[in-house]
Amino acid sequence: MTRTYVITGAASGIGLATKELLEERGHRVIGVDLRGSDIDADLSSVEARKSLPGLVEEAAGGSIDAVLAIAGVAVESALTVRVNYFGAVEVLELLRPLLAASEAPRAALIASFSTLQENDPELVSAMRLGDEARSAELADALAAAGKGHLIYASTKRAIAEWMREQSISPEWADAGIPLNGVAPGVIVTPMTAPYLATPEGRASLLSGVPIRLNGPADPIDVARLLAWLTGAENAHVTGQLIFLDGGAEVVVRGPEVFGGAKTERVVLKS
Ligand SMILES: NC(=O)c1ccc[n+]([C@@H]2O[C@H](COP(=O)([O-])OP(=O)(O)OC[C@H]3O[C@@H](n4cnc5c(N)ncnc54)[C@H](O)[C@@H]3O)[C@@H](O)[C@H]2O)c1
Repeated sequence: MTRTYVITGAASGIGLATKELLEERGHRVIGVDLRGSDIDADLSSVEARKSLPGLVEEAAGGSIDAVLAIAGVAVESALTVRVNYFGAVEVLELLRPLLAASEAPRAALIASFSTLQENDPELVSAMRLGDEARSAELADALAAAGKGHLIYASTKRAIAEWMREQSISPEWADAGIPLNGVAPGVIVTPMTAPYLATPEGRASLLSGVPIRLNGPADPIDVARLLAWLTGAENAHVTGQLIFLDGGAEVVVRGPEVFGGAKTERVVLKS
């Protein structure tokens, strides 16, 4: 069955690969990007975000089946907060009503392996409280204090937490909409190309992401996972942050991550 997808960041990298994959499979994709896609929109701008539902509705001729919030930047300024967190959250919230008529509505976003890296807790909290002005102020202050590298990881931690919280809320779960995230490790795209181009840059990038399986991935690898998460086949997986990182998350967090049940750990003797 042909479905209609909205993809932000569709002009490059992971967004473009996902658009091309879904189109190859016969689906319709409405791409959103700064330029070079179907709808030009600067998602760092509140006004542009607010105008998006009308533009998407017009382009789709009514309802849509899935929203994929992929657009992102990795710069050491408030722009990263505006695009990666508020741009993604607002797009998902504002386009959700257009999913209501779909028989299999789905949504996904892109976080990052950096969800697990050092961040700034105050900035994460400001984003989670929905305070864009304060978040932008904090990000610029971090950059001025030489701690700008914490901004990107903070946006990805905040968006991953937002996704988990929202996935089981009345707006998403009760409306029958799986909402998931993908956390890529290192993907070969224009975002990482400058680092991967030199041996020193590559070593520095890979030292922060301890990949054990198959090295950096291609955008198509992420696209295939996103296509499944947002396809009609996925009716039960929700609230999951799926690490596409060759095992780096396992290296960092280890095997014992299943908290929750209050049971005594039994130590087996060999
Ligand atoms: N490449 C990686 O290794 C990697 C790892 C983890 C997470 N990610 C995430 O994956 C997503 C896609 O990144 P990519 O690697 O494909 O990078 P990319 O630079 O190739 O693509 C990002 C796209 O987002 C668009 N974009 C940026 N600012 C925008 C704005 N204000 N409004 C609208 N569109 C905007 C860009 O124009 C571009 O087309 C990002 O969220 C990124 O943080 C990438």
